[in-house]
Amino acid sequence: MMRITELKASNMNKTAKLEIEGKIYELPIVEGTENEKAVDISALRAQSGYITLDDGYGNTGSCKSAITFIDGEQGILRYRGMPIEELAQRSTFIETAFLIIYGHLPNEKELQRFSGLLTKNENIHEDMKFHFEGFPSNAHPMATLSSMINASSCFYPELMKGYDPTTFDIVAARLISQVRTIAAFSYRKSQGLPIIYPKPSYKYTANFLHMLFSDPYEEYELKPEVVWALDLIFLLHADHEQNCSTATVRFIASSRANLFASAAAGVCALWGPLHGGANQAVIEMLQEIRASGDDGHRFIQEVKDKKSGKRLMGFGHRVYKNYDPRAKIIKERCDKLLAALKIDDPLLNIAKHLEEAALNDPYFVERKLYPNVDFYSGIIMRAIGIPVEMFTVIFAIGRMPGWIANFKEIMDSKESRIYRPRQVYTGPTLNGYVPINERD
Ligand code: ACO
Repeated sequence: MMRITELKASNMNKTAKLEIEGKIYELPIVEGTENEKAVDISALRAQSGYITLDDGYGNTGSCKSAITFIDGEQGILRYRGMPIEELAQRSTFIETAFLIIYGHLPNEKELQRFSGLLTKNENIHEDMKFHFEGFPSNAHPMATLSSMINASSCFYPELMKGYDPTTFDIVAARLISQVRTIAAFSYRKSQGLPIIYPKPSYKYTANFLHMLFSDPYEEYELKPEVVWALDLIFLLHADHEQNCSTATVRFIASSRANLFASAAAGVCALWGPLHGGANQAVIEMLQEIRASGDDGHRFIQEVKDKKSGKRLMGFGHRVYKNYDPRAKIIKERCDKLLAALKIDDPLLNIAKHLEEAALNDPYFVERKLYPNVDFYSGIIMRAIGIPVEMFTVIFAIGRMPGWIANFKEIMDSKESRIYRPRQVYTGPTLNGYVPINERD
């Protein structure tokens, strides 16, 4: 029998009492700055022989972190204590990236230095261009992105010497800046178009749009509302505490791999359709619904039937059991952008029908399934002209500051050690080798 109760010790340090088979173990309670509580079980196995089991880590804190706070019940997201709504309204992606990585908003001098480092490091090594030739033109850009980020580390031998806090600023700026160049180059290659080099006079997001859409003979016309919308998408994706890809980056970093290797692994984790790949999956779902002549209501019925194997992509979240605050901001910006560009996208109407139907349907209400950030971001990207295969790449560019900040947190922590979860083994018990002629 196992029982766990909370008690307060005389020194005011809270502990929990865990009773296993009549024996009581006292476990420290850890409290975060927003009063979230955790039972520290790190010594439990040594004391009792027991581990805890939490498949999918739904109830496991893997670290203490001071970067991002989420309250999924209330629909709150804050970077370094600052509400996402305020940052979305008043900040830019690059300023927010600095905030996430360094823990405070930059003053003018700091921002100037940070922007300068990004500009200085915006070009990839010229030899890297030949690597793009090796990919088939129909390669998924997430495969190209992760490979190229990892390959980039070969061009910076200093990375192999391990983490160096005195050069971290340059390494971090290089990654933030070059991921955008790699993404744009891989898109141009996939379309059979000539590569467009970055322009130092452009700011981060404008420069990315230029590398994506300009031609050697014709500059892309940068519309302020388009730059603003894409910058917002980057900002809203900049961090999201211990999600699948960030936890992956921390995992890799915990083995003391370099920042580029850790970020490349983050890209791979982000690629999956249950995570960053959902923005692509949402648009494909909306296109499928439209092609079938449905306005969304029939699809909702299919999704509720578990045998269909379908999910309403862009809905639901492991942490948010309320409207994802990023989705609220994006939906509003989506309406504004489409109006400014005079675009009437039938997929937006289907998305709105789906949302309305789902929010009034007991299946979704009971399971607390609300739209997440991916539900409307794809419609903005479509309006900008970004092809659907690039959507998750855009997410990866945006998430880079969060991965970098988490990497830095691991490297700067004196307590950090290699991530190495345990398991409950359920395979065969001791089982001897059988020679091939004696097997069934
Ligand atoms: N459509 C239909 N049913 C759903 C959905 C959905 N999108 N999401 C969850 N459910 C149902 C599940 O079938 C399950 O039902 P049950 O209790 O009857 O078995 C219940 O809701 C709980 O779902 P879980 O899969 O246990 O929730 P989990 O926290 O593991 O998954 C996830 C979260 C992966 C985001 C899930 O909601 C999902 O698959 N959503 C669609 C994909 C998506 O939009 N991903 C993007 C996430 S945000 C991001 O990464 C930026």
